[in-house]
Amino acid sequence: MSEVAWIGLGAMGGRMAARLLAAGHELIVWNRTAARADPLAARGARVAATPAEAARGVATVVVMVTGPAALREVTEGPDGIAAAVSPGATVIDMSTVGPPAVADLRAVLPPEVALIDAPVLGSLNEAESGTLSVFVGGDPGPVAAALPLLGVLGTPVEAGPLGSGAAAKLVANEALLITLTALGETLALADRLGLPRDIAWRVLGLTPLGPQAERRRPAVEADDPPKLFALRNAVKDAGLITHEAGAAGRLAEAARSWLADAEAAGLGDHDYTAVIGHILASGRRAAPGSGPRPEIEPD
Ligand SMILES: NC(=O)c1ccc[n+]([C@@H]2O[C@H](COP(=O)([O-])OP(=O)(O)OC[C@H]3O[C@@H](n4cnc5c(N)ncnc54)[C@H](OP(=O)(O)O)[C@@H]3O)[C@@H](O)[C@H]2O)c1
Repeated sequence: MSEVAWIGLGAMGGRMAARLLAAGHELIVWNRTAARADPLAARGARVAATPAEAARGVATVVVMVTGPAALREVTEGPDGIAAAVSPGATVIDMSTVGPPAVADLRAVLPPEVALIDAPVLGSLNEAESGTLSVFVGGDPGPVAAALPLLGVLGTPVEAGPLGSGAAAKLVANEALLITLTALGETLALADRLGLPRDIAWRVLGLTPLGPQAERRRPAVEADDPPKLFALRNAVKDAGLITHEAGAAGRLAEAARSWLADAEAAGLGDHDYTAVIGHILASGRRAAPGSGPRPEIEPD
């Protein structure tokens, strides 16, 4: 199998790259913090000194970094991928960056290099087991050629032309972040009304939040749930979403402001479900019955 360059070996990227290695791909890897490449090097991956060195001469370059700024850092400048990637190669960006950053990347890559945006839904367990959902945007030819490789990582969902994968990912994450913060607010309301928590969970089980309540209950009840997705990265995603949603993004903005508050309170490096605990604590601090009381009934 042809050699693949992999840029970005964080919580997700390290696990995904390991799957390619296990599937028999030869890998050349680069990560800003070099030590994070050690486990893959021990399993046979070559380690490059720069993103450009990793990209030189390979047919496929995959990028999995934090967001738009990190993407620019690894693609632009003399050490960036764009300076070295070969004509005819395909760059696959799997980071959650939103459509504008994908368009910026298209503009800096040579025209003879194909670009696919392929961000993922699912977390560390899904990355490890190859059961992610992969939202794929790009021209049909390069997308068709990339599907076998993407299939090692999860189930590709072909979303449309370049930027569609990034768009699909923001839609999915708006649903996720709104639901998570809605769960925090409903539990905070239950607390303020004096409902015992086990009754609150039963009530939520009878509402559209039921499946999310069941899924998040262990994280809410754990003091500090294991970090799967860093809260600071959820703040990044919420900012990408509100930028795109504009005036139609009131719920997205509410979710973003809760997450940003939680980050400001020092929770940025915790799992993003810590936002629920932050909302509950805010509910405990607010004065009882401090919202406006509706006096006028509608006709
Ligand atoms: N975790 C999840 O559950 C999950 C699920 C779906 C999608 N995602 C998305 O997947 C992407 C990666 O997430 P993750 O959880 O793996 O995050 P992470 O553990 O924080 O890893 C981030 C990666 O980006 C690199 N990076 C950050 N800033 C950089 C810069 N300025 N220059 C070069 N490299 C830089 C980091 O390098 P260092 O090692 O040097 O810090 C690391 O390799 C993000 O877009 C995230 O939104 C995450």
